[in-house]
Amino acid sequence: MTRHFLRDDDVTPAEQAQILDLAARLKADRFAESPLAGPQTVALIMDKPTLRTQTSFSVGVAELQGMPFLVDGGKAKIGTRESVPDVARIIGRQVAAIVWRTYAQSALETMAEYAGVPVVNALTDDFHPCQLLADLLTIREHKGRLAGLTVSYLGDGANNMAHSFLLAGATAGMHVRIVTPAEYRPRADIVADAERIAQATGGSVTVLTDPGEGAAGADVVVTDTWASMGQEDEKDARALVFANYRVDAELMARAKSDAIFLHCLPAYRDYEVTSEVIDGPQSVVWDEAENRLHAQKALLAWLLTQADEKEGPDA
Ligand code: NVA
Repeated sequence: MTRHFLRDDDVTPAEQAQILDLAARLKADRFAESPLAGPQTVALIMDKPTLRTQTSFSVGVAELQGMPFLVDGGKAKIGTRESVPDVARIIGRQVAAIVWRTYAQSALETMAEYAGVPVVNALTDDFHPCQLLADLLTIREHKGRLAGLTVSYLGDGANNMAHSFLLAGATAGMHVRIVTPAEYRPRADIVADAERIAQATGGSVTVLTDPGEGAAGADVVVTDTWASMGQEDEKDARALVFANYRVDAELMARAKSDAIFLHCLPAYRDYEVTSEVIDGPQSVVWDEAENRLHAQKALLAWLLTQADEKEGPDA
């Protein structure tokens, strides 16, 4: 059976740890291992703006001895010019994996249903699981572990980053706090899924509205843009709603003294985070951005190996 990575809980806690271990090995020695069987092409389809994702997947596939094949979503118009099942079957017959950044999670699920090769979520409206692999790798590097740590995400609790923190953090056995205004609470079904996972891993999930309470004693403080891609028209209105959730020095002082600060970028300085914090000593955002490369190389190598093993002669 072909494995996909459509949301953070598509991997078990053990598999997540295995991918992070491989990412660390590939980071320590970028060309030491080439886990892929041979030259393979990976399609990268970008329906939304991208810098880190396109760069890190292109470089990563090349470093794995494969070839990235970039599809401009604006030209392909998947879902309007051609249906998702048709595109999945056309591209899927020619490449080893499909990496897709798009809007609807349901479209990504349809792509996975018809592609016949692993499909990777490179960000949808609902989840950003590749970013979370990079974030967990970064936290592990700086803190030496994941399980038992408290991560406080402040800002838009209903966006892709909040949802992915819930699922991936719970999978890693972390205590995940989503700190957001009541009307921006994460989706109830995702909170329920994260709670179920956390029960098994020893983690926990809490949704709070008070920023000071939310940041208190945290090991990791995280934020994200207040207006995600596709919500640009709401930027001014959201700036008012989320103003109290800005991560500034005062808020960081509520966290542990050795707390680190993460942001998936792009960052809007003096909206969701002050320059003092994102450019300050507790910020690890450049490690985090680099770790997209290592985490995604590991993910692709892992996914393609799973597919190879399952589709071998004895499968
Ligand atoms: N929540 C943001 C993440 C950007 C990487 C967005 O969807 O625009």
